Amino acid sequence: MPDQLTKLAYQTLQQGKALFGLTHKEVSTRLMRALAPGSTPSMQPVSEDLMQDLRRAMEQLQERDWQEAEQGLYPASLLFDAPWLDWASRYPLVWLDLPATWNRRQQRNVRDLPRHVDQEAYPDYYLQNFHHQTDGYLSDHSASLYDLQVEILFNGTADPMRRRVLAPLLRGLQAFADRPAGQIRVLDVATGTGRTLRQLRGALPKAQLVGLDLSTAYLRQANRWLGELPGELPQLVQGNGEAMPFADGTFQALTCVFLLHELPGEARQNVLNDCFRLLEPGGVLVLADSIQLADSPQFQPVMDNFRRGFHEPYYRDYIGDPIEERLARAGFEAITAETHFMTRVWSARRRAG
Ligand SMILES: C[S@@+](CC[C@H](N)C(=O)[O-])C[C@H]1O[C@@H](n2cnc3c(N)ncnc32)[C@H](O)[C@@H]1O
Repeated sequence: MPDQLTKLAYQTLQQGKALFGLTHKEVSTRLMRALAPGSTPSMQPVSEDLMQDLRRAMEQLQERDWQEAEQGLYPASLLFDAPWLDWASRYPLVWLDLPATWNRRQQRNVRDLPRHVDQEAYPDYYLQNFHHQTDGYLSDHSASLYDLQVEILFNGTADPMRRRVLAPLLRGLQAFADRPAGQIRVLDVATGTGRTLRQLRGALPKAQLVGLDLSTAYLRQANRWLGELPGELPQLVQGNGEAMPFADGTFQALTCVFLLHELPGEARQNVLNDCFRLLEPGGVLVLADSIQLADSPQFQPVMDNFRRGFHEPYYRDYIGDPIEERLARAGFEAITAETHFMTRVWSARRRAG
């Protein structure tokens, strides 16, 4: 069981990450204003009250993260898990990448992708520089910087937000409590570089884990980082979340983290429909994605700024999209939702047969 010293270490680490993220963003914004003024997006002002709300929500997230580790839902070591040396060595590349990002933003160029990419192999909505990211999701360079960039964007709260899928997932899996742990199959849809799979392995040391993503480059990065995990290696599969290459009812649980806001509405629905198909009756789907206007109206300026600062073509549509209705349309029942800092978490069940 984690002790108070570990808690203090965790809090200190999170404060350090927040300070690092805020400082990085402050310095890079100033640099952008000085060196590439034409690429500076216009942002909504964030009031002191709103800043306080954000700080409070962030502290609540950290407290919940700590409590669930203390309850034994996952090991406390997960709270400190990150490829620190790797990130430190890559950090200069994040800076070196910034001028190209500013340039794309200034020229409104959102289709600046590597020439070798077979455009026929991907849906059109995917072939963009999400977040103005160099190469979109379609190169090893992009995959090698992604986690560090997300860490900076969320001031070190990305994994604490991802871990919020674990409690509803474990609750949902109680429906299969009579099964040997090694026979439980869990799929992480749009796994990217596999950060959610790492959290899942912490909570489910024996389960069969599978990660699916459209980007082979991101899967290669996931493969590098998942190799060191204890237990059976998660399997990584390239595919489209709208029509996944698995048989009906293959999995007892599915997770999907930070994908829905990057999809047009129709694709969003297709993904939820296919998740339903893949679940064994009685199985559980847990989604985590950005907060929305209906649950967090007070954070609207933050949502607006996210959309303005980063290329997120479907975000405006997403934040007004009733995901509960989409889940019900896909066939799900027992739909619940909760909010943790910048993340909304939905859990839904496929009725037992
Ligand atoms: C914002 S990232 C989130 C990645 C990961 N879940 C995380 O928590 O970091 C979105 C991911 O969705 C993947 N993606 C986007 N559209 C997809 C689709 N239709 N099918 C499968 N993966 C998709 C991208 O390649 C990318 O890895």
